[in-house]
Amino acid sequence: MKKLLWLLFLGAFACKQPAQTETSADQQPVNDPHTFSNSAQAIAKHLDLDIKVDFTSRQISGKASWSIENIAGVDNIIFDTWKMQIQKVTLGDDEKAASFELGKEQPVFGQPLTVKIDNSTKKVNIYYTTSPEASALQWLTPQQTSGKKYPFLFTQSQPILARSWVPCQDGPAVRFTYNATVKVPAELMAVMSAENPQTRSADGMYHFKQLHPIPSYLMALAVGDIAFKAVDKRTGVYAEPSVVEKAAWEFADMGKMVDAAEKLYGPYRWNRYDLLVLPPSFPYGGMENPMLTFATPTVIAGDRSLVSLVAHELAHSWSGNLVTNATWNDMWLNEGFTVYFERRIIEALYGKAEFQMQEIIGRQDLMSTVEDKGDTSRDTRLKLDLAGRDPDEGLSDIAYEKGYAFLRTIEENVGRVAFDEFLKSYFSKHAFQSRTTEQFLEELTTAFKDKTNFAEQLRIKDWVYGAGIPNNIPPAVSPQFSAIDTIIANWQKSKQVNGLSQQLKSTNQLLYFIRQLPPSITAADMSLLDKEFKFSQSGNAEIQTAWYTWAIQKQYQPAYSYIESFLSSVGRRKFLRPLYGEMIKTAEGKAWAKKIYATARANYHPVAYTTIDAMLK
Ligand code: BES
Ligand code: ZN
Repeated sequence: MKKLLWLLFLGAFACKQPAQTETSADQQPVNDPHTFSNSAQAIAKHLDLDIKVDFTSRQISGKASWSIENIAGVDNIIFDTWKMQIQKVTLGDDEKAASFELGKEQPVFGQPLTVKIDNSTKKVNIYYTTSPEASALQWLTPQQTSGKKYPFLFTQSQPILARSWVPCQDGPAVRFTYNATVKVPAELMAVMSAENPQTRSADGMYHFKQLHPIPSYLMALAVGDIAFKAVDKRTGVYAEPSVVEKAAWEFADMGKMVDAAEKLYGPYRWNRYDLLVLPPSFPYGGMENPMLTFATPTVIAGDRSLVSLVAHELAHSWSGNLVTNATWNDMWLNEGFTVYFERRIIEALYGKAEFQMQEIIGRQDLMSTVEDKGDTSRDTRLKLDLAGRDPDEGLSDIAYEKGYAFLRTIEENVGRVAFDEFLKSYFSKHAFQSRTTEQFLEELTTAFKDKTNFAEQLRIKDWVYGAGIPNNIPPAVSPQFSAIDTIIANWQKSKQVNGLSQQLKSTNQLLYFIRQLPPSITAADMSLLDKEFKFSQSGNAEIQTAWYTWAIQKQYQPAYSYIESFLSSVGRRKFLRPLYGEMIKTAEGKAWAKKIYATARANYHPVAYTTIDAMLK
């Protein structure tokens, strides 16, 4: 009888969608629509993870032991899971069997795992096995790596994929520390978002500690033929042996970036800062996993021209990892702040001209995103409303570049010195806490309450809750880029390309030049430009994507084989989306896209192929 009641009760819970979670710091409940967990009542605060990585079955299995706090004295704790097998759940160090229930499966969100607890429960041990389809995991064959000899595995947990490889309270307002023991094939090395080994273990056993409380989306693991090379005392790179030297050269400024960041917004709180270069199927440019940024190999351009990505992921060590968006609706607090911080690091290291150029490239991205979405679209608001939707849908340049533009507007209004002081204290005051947009705005307006009509003058409401871009956005100017406007105007008149490649050399310049080519450009024009610049054969993924987009649109055939090999080897979604997107605009192009995709899909991460599947269906 008792058991029946318990099941009925669980049934009621399984249907409930939004969960109450809370920031540990000021005990304000946060409504996170993307987790089933009940962390406001019972919170998981420390994880002891003991897992085995099996490349043959493409599964991770083991035990997640969660130390919990039953805040409200409730009789259950809820975790998020996604297509996971749960073998058993036990309570405490003595591992007494517990009743548990997996709720109804929902697309994207997965299944709540509800475990019966009581007031005295301190530990919940979950024995589980992941699905071979786990959305956070990409299992690579040796062929898909640079060395071609060993398989490779990596995770991508942001935004809500962590639940597919560890049962957890999968919302950004819940923080926990972790220890992990990971068993991998003896010839491979494992690294995590934690204190990492720099050499192989003899037996494939690795132990990790993350001493700072982090949200689940920052849990990360990679396993493969990985080597380490130090850059300086506190920074270094991990990569496949054939890539590690190139990577160390490319990212030689990592240490200087950390120094510059500390000067701006206070001490780096995570001890070491290392970077792992992944195989080319990594679906993002970079991911700010604490202590160990994960990065695409496409940033290794050979000339250090794309290292602002490192500045970006490093900046997340403050904006994001230290002070975290409370829900994915507040994602601009992570990404907008980080783009602002990234550009400040770039300015400190490489000067104002570089800063201006990157600001303009970002502004172009912003304007084209607003144009694509429409300037009345709700998804152009900074504060998003992603309830019921995959939070991945909120991932656009709005969070990044509108977020950045809003912060630049504040900087203009209050002055850089005052704004820096505010940000520095914001990061230290809220270290290891999650914040909502509203909490940030309240703190901002309080800090500048002596300025008359501050909120109205800034148009805070329009920026945050309105669609489109308010017209008090500060203008972005770059003398370097203005000079390119003149070059393009002259080229349009004369169609003379000889010697242009001597004037335009840097990645920024070339990217701007390609983007600003007039819509009237023809395949014949492209052929002449290609002779001068060799754009089709470029090894720089940013330039390739910009050029190939034109090539598809203008049916510039000499680029086609390069496009095919690019799409077959690179899995970074930022590049795949515009190229496939351009292809599907014509029937012929769509057939071509499908042909390429038929073989290329196997090289993409679930994050990437889920997006492209939807585009090509
Ligand atoms: N945290 C993001 C990546 C992310 C965001 C993954 C949301 C999943 C959901 C990371 O910091 C990022 O912004 N990466 C960018 C590169 C950056 C230089 C703008 C990327 O991958 O393109
Ligand atoms: Zn970011």
